[in-house]
Amino acid sequence: AGPTREAIDPVRYISNHSTGKMGYSIAYKAVDRGAKVYLISGPTSLKAPEGVQLIPVNSAREMHEKIMEHYDEADIVIMSAAVADYAPAITHQQKVKKSDEKLILELVKNPDILYELGKIKGDKILVGFAMETENLVENAKEKVSKKNLDFIVANDLFTEGAGFGTDTNVVKIIDRRGNVESLPKMAKLDLADLILDRIIKL
Ligand code: C5P
Repeated sequence: AGPTREAIDPVRYISNHSTGKMGYSIAYKAVDRGAKVYLISGPTSLKAPEGVQLIPVNSAREMHEKIMEHYDEADIVIMSAAVADYAPAITHQQKVKKSDEKLILELVKNPDILYELGKIKGDKILVGFAMETENLVENAKEKVSKKNLDFIVANDLFTEGAGFGTDTNVVKIIDRRGNVESLPKMAKLDLADLILDRIIKL
């Protein structure tokens, strides 16, 4: 759950607007149903639900590492984290001083965690999230197949009631057979339940 932070120096980082609400809602509902839950989360201001084992991380690489530590144990992996796709090529040990008018930051690609998990899926259930600003269904379908997912929960950032920080979401669930289920605006907690229902069906 949550965003990742990619450090530029001890003071600054690159991140995104994820608040972790969707992932924490799923963890809450899963533990309520009796699951053993590891909540591997980037920095958020949320409190981990009771009964959930919180594993806090910062960077995408750290998230990848912690997921791999628990992957064997998992029957279900739900990746709702907004993982940063790129990280600074160099993390400076000291605060970068301002000097020239222009500062160029070199970024290198982070591992695509879900893609890596998809390669070693076995009989685990793998669920992804996709936030798009255009061609929602087309892009999401491509991700289901590329990342070898059971289904993906896709939302359009520009739809009212969807996206970062809200208590609601408006999503489409797209499975590996290409079925598209369009859901109305609903509370993230209700969506969490619905996602778990879909997983149980599988
Ligand atoms: O390709 P895209 O970033 O849109 O895919 C989104 C899905 O992939 C989400 O489930 C997200 O958690 C996961 N992801 C990942 N590692 C990345 C980027 C995204 O696991 N580096």
